[in-house]
Amino acid sequence: MSSRRFTHFLTATTLFSLCALNVSLMADDQASPAESGVSYYKDIRPIFQSHCQGCHQPAKKGGEYVMTDFSQLLRGGESQEAAIVPGKPDESYLISLITPVDGEAEMPKGTKPLSSVEVDLVRKWIEQGAENDAPASTQPKFSADNPPVYNAAPVITSLHFSPDGKYLAVSGYHEVLIHHSDGSGLAARLVGMSERIETARFSPDSTKIAVTGGSPGRMGELQVWNVSDNSLLFAKTIGYDTLYGANWSPDGKLISYGCPDNTSHALNVEDGKEVLFNGAHDGWVLDTVFSVNGDHLVTVSRDRSMKLINVPTQRFIDNVTSITPGALKGGLNSVDRHPTKDELLCGGADGVPKVYKMFRDKARKIGDDFNLIRAYPALQGRIFSTQFSKDGTKVVSGSSFNGVGQVKVANYEDGKELSSVDLDGGIFSVAFHPNGNTVAAAGFGGEVHLIEAATGKIIKSFVPVTIQTAVAGAAEE
Ligand code: HEC
Repeated sequence: MSSRRFTHFLTATTLFSLCALNVSLMADDQASPAESGVSYYKDIRPIFQSHCQGCHQPAKKGGEYVMTDFSQLLRGGESQEAAIVPGKPDESYLISLITPVDGEAEMPKGTKPLSSVEVDLVRKWIEQGAENDAPASTQPKFSADNPPVYNAAPVITSLHFSPDGKYLAVSGYHEVLIHHSDGSGLAARLVGMSERIETARFSPDSTKIAVTGGSPGRMGELQVWNVSDNSLLFAKTIGYDTLYGANWSPDGKLISYGCPDNTSHALNVEDGKEVLFNGAHDGWVLDTVFSVNGDHLVTVSRDRSMKLINVPTQRFIDNVTSITPGALKGGLNSVDRHPTKDELLCGGADGVPKVYKMFRDKARKIGDDFNLIRAYPALQGRIFSTQFSKDGTKVVSGSSFNGVGQVKVANYEDGKELSSVDLDGGIFSVAFHPNGNTVAAAGFGGEVHLIEAATGKIIKSFVPVTIQTAVAGAAEE
């Protein structure tokens, strides 16, 4: 799984953001609102994004109240009380809900109140007229009722089959597309706030799907959806840039992810609380996977290393790959764990899929790559995605080189190549169907290819979205 990231632009916020950093710190740093006007875009929206919008957006409307759309933000929800009355903070229902009484506030629901600095900013902004100065490009445009429209096939960064074999999740723009796994059609569209989806992965029991993404340079987001009714279970805005590499603990209780601020995280699905935070990497953390019994997390990064972290203590334990300069050529993009053994399949810039032991059973010698078990036939260019088959007998990898994609399937045990196919456009994601006979591959070309694992024969190719060919009104025929 995992995805490509060459189009990412590195902004100041990327460099200085900390995924877990609370926005209140940012507010503290800003000029006192008394001296200048309070900006909705710069001061208020970040507060609402990180503390409120997870529960108040089109896909999840707590109290029928949507805070992502400005007119609805003012109007309010089921109470029929105006949430915000411009110029009149004391008549604004929202203010009464966020203002703590005896250290507790109604909103944000179920967690600690906003800081007094934040409450004061919201109050001042309403007092000054509650104006919307956010650029149009930052206002959310899409929801389930108003889904994205495509003029061209979107670049595909993530593919994943549900473990029960029913569905294939495909990344889209502002949404995850749930297709029937045989490519016979679209089953559901999960439209959320993030414009870019980096990964979408089903839970081990196929009932939920974890999505990482965000809006580059503005926000990162983790979404968790219920598959049975396509409802958003929760959404959490995290940091200032897109999140990567979502994965589930084998018991389905934790979700891990990586951040472009070099940190790795895991949170509890039940209450959304963070249970793991680790900053051992020196580069963007692009993919994560748990050990067989869930007590360790493995992360890979652009810093060229694969790291082992203990979950209960959140401590860095070891570098799984060699850390000798030059031993690994370029960053790692993807990691997967063998279904029954603590062995790790990784792929990255050197184009060679490799399997490593998770735990070292001999002291490290400088210069060794002791944990390496086996390397598989090299692919052209960089590998963006690798995965074991569900029975652990095969591995699949996908790569990109000068606009050409390549997908290779090999035997796990002896490393023998079973099939290889070249495709138009770099491949950013590959996934095994749980039956082990079919792999899906997709990337820059925007088409999903279903490929016979044994032969490399393309069974079916399809564009996962409906493409609008003509501008409305100018349509001919
Ligand atoms: C964990 C989910 C959650 C979070 C986070 C949250 N809310 Fe709510 N909110 C709700 C629910 C659910 C309701 C419906 C009433 C209730 O259950 O208390 C609600 C109701 C409201 C209402 C009343 C709407 C109406 O007209 O009835 C307002 C206003 C509101 N929230 C504002 C906020 C603000 C501002 C924040 C952030 C500072 C926030 N909420 C964070 C879940 C949440």
